[in-house]
Amino acid sequence: MEFNNIVPDQAQLVKEINELKQKLNAVILVHNYQLDEIQQIGDFLGDSLGLSKQAANTENKIIVFCGVKFMAETAKILSPDKTVLLPVKTAGCPMADMVDIEDLRQLKRENPDAVVVTYVNSSTETKALSDYCCTSANARKIIESIPDDKEIIFLPDQHLGAYVTSNRQGRSILWKGFCPVHQRMKLEEIKQLKRDNPQAKFIIHPEAPASITKLADAIESTGGMVKYIKNLPENSSVIVGTELGMINRLRRERSDINFIPASSDLICYNMKSTRLVDVRDALKHKQYQIEVDPDIAAKARKAIKRMISIG
Ligand code: 13P
Ligand code: SF4
Repeated sequence: MEFNNIVPDQAQLVKEINELKQKLNAVILVHNYQLDEIQQIGDFLGDSLGLSKQAANTENKIIVFCGVKFMAETAKILSPDKTVLLPVKTAGCPMADMVDIEDLRQLKRENPDAVVVTYVNSSTETKALSDYCCTSANARKIIESIPDDKEIIFLPDQHLGAYVTSNRQGRSILWKGFCPVHQRMKLEEIKQLKRDNPQAKFIIHPEAPASITKLADAIESTGGMVKYIKNLPENSSVIVGTELGMINRLRRERSDINFIPASSDLICYNMKSTRLVDVRDALKHKQYQIEVDPDIAAKARKAIKRMISIG
């Protein structure tokens, strides 16, 4: 009798992954929200900006992207000659799916002078209709590079958009997208956590609503959070307002700090769907290969490269 579906133990999987990686000249890029077992096998672990820079500069022939589809697509756009693999075909980002391309075309027709700034959490088609891309790490810098009186269309995240355009003179049109994970945070729960932990710093991702970010000591991308906690005094406490995978990442940097999740609900199931066996199978079967239409990708590449050159 054959047991094809038996999953080998973790040590065996890690060994196979390392062997395959070497044989194929592959690099494994891992986002900060991935499961701890995946964070541990990454050649690079980081935020969207850091990982897209790694993808653009890597010498390796194969990129295994442990994250969600828009991240793997960004890697493919930046490295069209490389093979980019997304270990779980269905790992998407609901926020990226909140843009209807025809609606965006219509909005651009109605506002022909507006500069379109698109959060990297978006499809290749959306990026191709944009002037600039941005991530949560550089959104403010990108916006500041645009003349202050110029009209802006920002999409898809209304919260990041509101945060980075709040001081502008020109009109900002914000798409109504949002991240379902960060949207789940409850104001009352956060206030209670702050009362219970009066010494704790509160760090939060800019995808959270303004009613909550205004209570924070720092509003940071996941990469920004790593930098922020590095300078805190020993044995500090930090309330972390983002996806729970981030806590493993932060603990790896500072095991002395007491990290307190802003809510036990903050799980992105798309990010958490990749397991070691999927990474092993991705390398073994070269799956699932990311393909982007070359003409659409060329337009998207301009917006992404403009972002990289600014920040
Ligand atoms: P970062 O760019 O901060 O890593 O965020 C990516 C993301 O998907 C946040 O929800
Ligand atoms: Fe998308 Fe939110 Fe998941 Fe990030 S955490 S990938 S924005 S659904």
